[in-house]
Amino acid sequence: MIITIDGPAGAGKSTAAKALAAQLHFLYMDTGAMYRAVTLKALRKGIDWQDRAALIALTRKTTVVLRQVGAGDLQVLLDGEDVSAAIRQVDVTEKTQYIAQEPVVREVVVSWQRKIGEQGNVVIEGRDVGTVVFPKARYKFYLDADAEQRIARRLKDFTAQDEKVDTATVRKTVLDRDQSDMTRKASPLKKADDAIVIDTTDLTVEQTVAKMLGYIDTGGLSL
Ligand code: C5P
Repeated sequence: MIITIDGPAGAGKSTAAKALAAQLHFLYMDTGAMYRAVTLKALRKGIDWQDRAALIALTRKTTVVLRQVGAGDLQVLLDGEDVSAAIRQVDVTEKTQYIAQEPVVREVVVSWQRKIGEQGNVVIEGRDVGTVVFPKARYKFYLDADAEQRIARRLKDFTAQDEKVDTATVRKTVLDRDQSDMTRKASPLKKADDAIVIDTTDLTVEQTVAKMLGYIDTGGLSL
Protein backbone atom coordinates (compact mmCIF):
# COMPACT_ATOMS: atom_id res chain seq x y z
CA MET A 1 0.00 0.00 0.00
CA ILE A 2 1.36 3.41 -0.94
CA ILE A 3 0.31 6.52 0.97
CA THR A 4 1.43 9.88 -0.42
CA ILE A 5 1.67 13.20 1.40
CA ASP A 6 2.29 16.40 -0.53
CA GLY A 7 2.20 20.03 0.49
CA PRO A 8 4.23 23.23 0.92
CA ALA A 9 7.18 23.79 3.27
CA GLY A 10 6.30 23.69 6.96
CA ALA A 11 2.87 22.10 6.47
CA GLY A 12 3.93 19.30 8.83
CA LYS A 13 4.47 16.60 6.22
CA SER A 14 7.65 15.08 7.65
CA THR A 15 6.51 14.77 11.26
CA ALA A 16 3.12 13.43 10.21
CA ALA A 17 4.60 11.03 7.64
CA LYS A 18 7.14 9.64 10.14
CA ALA A 19 4.48 9.16 12.82
CA LEU A 20 2.04 7.60 10.38
CA ALA A 21 4.69 5.22 9.01
CA ALA A 22 5.66 4.21 12.56
CA GLN A 23 2.04 3.52 13.53
CA LEU A 24 1.34 1.48 10.42
CA HIS A 25 4.77 -0.25 10.44
CA PHE A 26 5.34 1.12 6.93
CA LEU A 27 8.56 2.32 5.34
CA TYR A 28 8.95 6.10 5.42
CA MET A 29 10.33 7.87 2.33
CA ASP A 30 11.40 11.52 2.37
CA THR A 31 11.74 12.52 -1.29
CA GLY A 32 12.90 16.04 -0.40
CA ALA A 33 15.98 14.48 1.20
CA MET A 34 16.95 13.07 -2.21
CA TYR A 35 16.75 16.47 -3.95
CA ARG A 36 18.63 18.01 -1.01
CA ALA A 37 21.40 15.39 -1.18
CA VAL A 38 21.97 15.99 -4.91
CA THR A 39 22.00 19.74 -4.22
CA LEU A 40 24.63 19.30 -1.50
CA LYS A 41 26.84 17.36 -3.89
CA ALA A 42 26.48 20.04 -6.60
CA LEU A 43 27.27 22.77 -4.05
CA ARG A 44 30.40 20.97 -2.89
CA LYS A 45 31.58 20.50 -6.46
CA GLY A 46 30.85 24.15 -7.27
CA ILE A 47 28.72 23.30 -10.28
CA ASP A 48 27.15 26.23 -12.11
CA TRP A 49 23.40 26.09 -11.37
CA GLN A 50 22.64 27.07 -14.95
CA ASP A 51 24.70 24.20 -16.39
CA ARG A 52 21.89 21.70 -16.97
CA ALA A 53 24.10 19.05 -18.58
CA ALA A 54 26.47 19.08 -15.60
CA LEU A 55 23.59 18.82 -13.11
CA ILE A 56 22.13 15.87 -15.01
CA ALA A 57 25.50 14.10 -15.29
CA LEU A 58 26.12 14.63 -11.58
CA THR A 59 22.73 13.19 -10.64
CA ARG A 60 23.27 10.12 -12.82
CA LYS A 61 26.54 9.47 -10.98
CA THR A 62 24.95 9.82 -7.55
CA THR A 63 23.62 7.26 -5.10
CA VAL A 64 21.24 8.33 -2.38
CA VAL A 65 20.18 5.76 0.18
CA LEU A 66 17.55 6.41 2.82
CA ARG A 67 18.36 4.11 5.69
CA GLN A 68 15.61 3.43 8.20
CA VAL A 69 16.96 4.03 11.73
CA GLY A 70 14.45 3.54 14.48
CA ALA A 71 10.78 4.43 14.43
CA GLY A 72 10.21 6.32 11.23
CA ASP A 73 13.58 8.09 11.30
CA LEU A 74 15.93 8.18 8.33
CA GLN A 75 19.63 8.44 7.78
CA VAL A 76 20.47 9.97 4.41
CA LEU A 77 23.53 8.50 2.71
CA LEU A 78 25.03 10.41 -0.21
CA ASP A 79 27.44 8.13 -2.08
CA GLY A 80 27.84 6.29 1.23
CA GLU A 81 28.39 9.39 3.42
CA ASP A 82 25.92 10.28 6.15
CA VAL A 83 24.65 13.75 5.19
CA SER A 84 21.47 13.72 7.31
CA ALA A 85 22.39 16.99 9.06
CA ALA A 86 24.25 18.70 6.22
CA ILE A 87 21.28 18.60 3.82
CA ARG A 88 19.16 20.65 6.27
CA GLN A 89 21.46 23.70 6.13
CA VAL A 90 20.00 26.95 4.84
CA ASP A 91 22.27 27.17 1.79
CA VAL A 92 21.24 23.69 0.65
CA THR A 93 17.57 24.52 1.28
CA GLU A 94 17.83 27.67 -0.85
CA LYS A 95 19.65 26.00 -3.75
CA THR A 96 17.47 22.89 -4.02
CA GLN A 97 15.17 24.68 -6.45
CA TYR A 98 17.85 24.51 -9.19
CA ILE A 99 17.97 20.75 -8.87
CA ALA A 100 14.20 20.37 -8.49
CA GLN A 101 13.36 22.37 -11.61
CA GLU A 102 15.45 20.27 -14.00
CA PRO A 103 13.16 17.68 -15.65
CA VAL A 104 15.85 15.09 -16.43
CA VAL A 105 17.22 15.30 -12.89
CA ARG A 106 13.67 14.71 -11.66
CA GLU A 107 13.30 11.66 -13.92
CA VAL A 108 16.39 10.12 -12.34
CA VAL A 109 15.33 10.93 -8.77
CA VAL A 110 11.77 9.69 -9.40
CA SER A 111 13.20 6.38 -10.67
CA TRP A 112 14.94 5.96 -7.26
CA GLN A 113 11.62 6.66 -5.53
CA ARG A 114 9.62 4.20 -7.61
CA LYS A 115 12.20 1.52 -6.88
CA ILE A 116 11.70 2.02 -3.14
CA GLY A 117 7.93 2.06 -3.70
CA GLU A 118 8.16 -1.43 -5.16
CA GLN A 119 9.25 -2.71 -1.76
CA GLY A 120 5.69 -2.67 -0.43
CA ASN A 121 4.03 -0.58 2.23
CA VAL A 122 5.37 2.97 2.13
CA VAL A 123 4.43 6.42 3.40
CA ILE A 124 6.07 8.88 1.01
CA GLU A 125 6.20 12.64 1.33
CA GLY A 126 7.16 15.36 -1.11
CA ARG A 127 5.76 17.83 -3.62
CA ASP A 128 4.73 15.63 -6.56
CA VAL A 129 4.41 12.19 -5.01
CA GLY A 130 0.63 11.93 -5.38
CA THR A 131 0.49 13.67 -8.76
CA VAL A 132 3.51 12.29 -10.63
CA VAL A 133 5.50 9.66 -8.74
CA PHE A 134 2.66 7.44 -7.52
CA PRO A 135 -0.52 8.63 -9.27
CA LYS A 136 -2.20 5.32 -8.38
CA ALA A 137 -1.39 5.51 -4.64
CA ARG A 138 -4.06 4.01 -2.40
CA TYR A 139 -4.33 7.13 -0.23
CA LYS A 140 -3.22 10.65 -1.07
CA PHE A 141 -3.04 13.51 1.37
CA TYR A 142 -2.33 17.18 0.81
CA LEU A 143 -1.25 18.97 3.97
CA ASP A 144 -1.43 22.74 4.17
CA ALA A 145 -1.28 25.44 6.85
CA ASP A 146 -1.31 29.23 7.15
CA ALA A 147 1.94 30.80 5.94
CA GLU A 148 2.73 32.36 9.34
CA GLN A 149 2.34 29.02 11.08
CA ARG A 150 4.53 27.32 8.48
CA ILE A 151 7.23 30.00 8.90
CA ALA A 152 7.09 29.62 12.70
CA ARG A 153 7.57 25.86 12.39
CA ARG A 154 10.57 26.24 10.09
CA LEU A 155 12.12 28.75 12.49
CA LYS A 156 11.74 26.19 15.26
CA ASP A 157 13.41 23.52 13.09
CA PHE A 158 16.44 25.75 12.46
CA THR A 159 16.69 26.67 16.15
CA ALA A 160 16.62 22.97 17.05
CA GLN A 161 19.52 22.45 14.59
CA ASP A 162 21.44 25.33 16.25
CA GLU A 163 21.38 27.29 12.99
CA LYS A 164 21.25 31.00 13.60
CA VAL A 165 18.68 32.43 11.21
CA ASP A 166 16.38 35.39 11.70
CA THR A 167 12.64 35.38 11.09
CA ALA A 168 12.89 37.58 7.99
CA THR A 169 15.31 35.14 6.33
CA VAL A 170 13.14 32.13 7.16
CA ARG A 171 10.03 33.94 5.91
CA LYS A 172 11.73 34.74 2.61
CA THR A 173 13.11 31.21 2.24
CA VAL A 174 9.74 29.56 2.89
CA LEU A 175 7.74 31.89 0.64
CA ASP A 176 10.29 31.90 -2.19
CA ARG A 177 10.49 28.11 -2.07
CA ASP A 178 6.70 27.71 -2.21
CA GLN A 179 6.57 30.10 -5.13
CA SER A 180 9.27 28.26 -7.04
CA ASP A 181 7.82 24.79 -6.20
CA MET A 182 4.32 25.82 -7.31
CA THR A 183 5.27 27.65 -10.49
CA ARG A 184 8.06 25.53 -11.97
CA LYS A 185 7.24 23.74 -15.23
CA ALA A 186 8.44 20.28 -14.18
CA SER A 187 6.09 18.54 -11.73
CA PRO A 188 4.94 21.65 -9.83
CA LEU A 189 3.49 21.31 -6.35
CA LYS A 190 -0.26 20.97 -6.60
CA LYS A 191 -2.99 18.98 -4.99
CA ALA A 192 -3.86 15.74 -6.80
CA ASP A 193 -7.55 15.71 -7.82
CA ASP A 194 -8.16 12.73 -5.55
CA ALA A 195 -6.09 13.95 -2.58
CA ILE A 196 -7.59 14.49 0.88
CA VAL A 197 -6.77 18.01 2.10
CA ILE A 198 -5.88 18.53 5.77
CA ASP A 199 -5.28 22.01 7.16
CA THR A 200 -2.76 21.54 9.97
CA THR A 201 -2.65 25.18 11.15
CA ASP A 202 -4.34 24.41 14.47
CA LEU A 203 -3.56 20.70 14.68
CA THR A 204 -0.91 18.89 16.72
CA VAL A 205 1.03 16.08 15.06
CA GLU A 206 -1.12 13.56 16.94
CA GLN A 207 -4.32 15.19 15.70
CA THR A 208 -3.03 15.29 12.12
CA VAL A 209 -2.08 11.62 12.21
CA ALA A 210 -5.39 10.69 13.82
CA LYS A 211 -7.22 12.49 11.01
CA MET A 212 -5.20 10.63 8.40
CA LEU A 213 -5.77 7.29 10.09
CA GLY A 214 -9.48 8.07 10.05
CA TYR A 215 -9.40 7.82 6.25
CA ILE A 216 -7.22 4.72 6.05
CA ASP A 217 -8.76 1.27 6.04
CA THR A 218 -6.29 -0.62 8.24
CA GLY A 219 -8.39 -3.81 8.15
CA GLY A 220 -5.90 -5.90 6.20
CA LEU A 221 -2.84 -4.63 8.08
CA SER A 222 -1.31 -6.19 11.17
CA LEU A 223 -0.85 -3.16 13.45
O1 C5P B 1 10.56 18.47 1.63
P1 C5P B 1 11.78 19.32 1.63
O2 C5P B 1 11.55 20.68 2.20
O3 C5P B 1 12.97 18.67 2.25
O4 C5P B 1 12.11 19.51 0.09
C1 C5P B 1 13.17 20.33 -0.35
C2 C5P B 1 12.90 20.79 -1.77
O5 C5P B 1 13.02 19.67 -2.65
C3 C5P B 1 11.52 21.36 -2.05
O6 C5P B 1 11.41 22.74 -1.75
C4 C5P B 1 11.37 21.10 -3.54
O7 C5P B 1 11.98 22.11 -4.30
C5 C5P B 1 12.13 19.81 -3.74
N1 C5P B 1 11.23 18.66 -3.80
C6 C5P B 1 10.62 18.38 -5.00
N2 C5P B 1 9.82 17.27 -5.13
C7 C5P B 1 9.63 16.46 -4.10
C8 C5P B 1 10.23 16.73 -2.85
C9 C5P B 1 11.01 17.85 -2.73
O8 C5P B 1 10.76 19.13 -5.95
N3 C5P B 1 8.89 15.36 -4.28
